[in-house]
Amino acid sequence: MNKPITILGIAGSLRRQSYNRSALRAAKQLAPEGVTIDIFELEGIPAFNEDQETNPPAQVVDLKKRIRAEDALLFVTPEYNYSVPGVLKNAIDWASRPYGDSAWSGKPAAIMGASIGNIATARAQYHLRQICVFLNVFPLNQPEVMIGNASQRFDAEGNLTDESTREHIRKLLQSLVQWTERLRQK
Ligand SMILES: Cc1cc2nc3c(=O)[nH]c(=O)nc-3n(C[C@H](O)[C@H](O)[C@H](O)COP(=O)(O)O)c2cc1C
Repeated sequence: MNKPITILGIAGSLRRQSYNRSALRAAKQLAPEGVTIDIFELEGIPAFNEDQETNPPAQVVDLKKRIRAEDALLFVTPEYNYSVPGVLKNAIDWASRPYGDSAWSGKPAAIMGASIGNIATARAQYHLRQICVFLNVFPLNQPEVMIGNASQRFDAEGNLTDESTREHIRKLLQSLVQWTERLRQK
């Protein structure tokens, strides 16, 4: 690795025992040497209102500052009704505005997600990839990390106990580091 990399981790759930927030905490522990994952919690961000976009709430100002300060992004998203949860989309919308002042543009990103179902956030992840087109965020294509049957992979304290999932996350983070270094050379 050339120089230390910082990653801003955002989970698209507010739930106390969220599998996705737990997966993000696991990623923080599994980060390769020299890589720091800082977690941004979405709790408390008001609903987007275009009337306020030039004078946004303090949390949004902080979110934009932190996106800009970090080298890369890690989205950990649940799937709600076949898409990205509103709480995540809301934060994405805030930080993309006002027009011409998006904090997202040019950032490398990795995407993963956990679901209690079998299909394991695939549809939400592909919607998020579509959103990344307009944000000009560059999501890593592979590996794809879709944590299905989440209730069997985390313990009651939210620790990720499934070794194969931990290995997938390690590989995702290693790939994100390589991807970030490639984009840095441009
Ligand atoms: C409003 C709502 C919609 C949901 N829709 C889906 C869905 O489309 N696909 C899916 O796999 N799970 C769906 N689920 C189940 C979530 O995968 C499950 O609640 C998951 O644990 C949410 O993530 P979290 O544990 O990080 O909060 C839905 C849950 C809620 C609350």
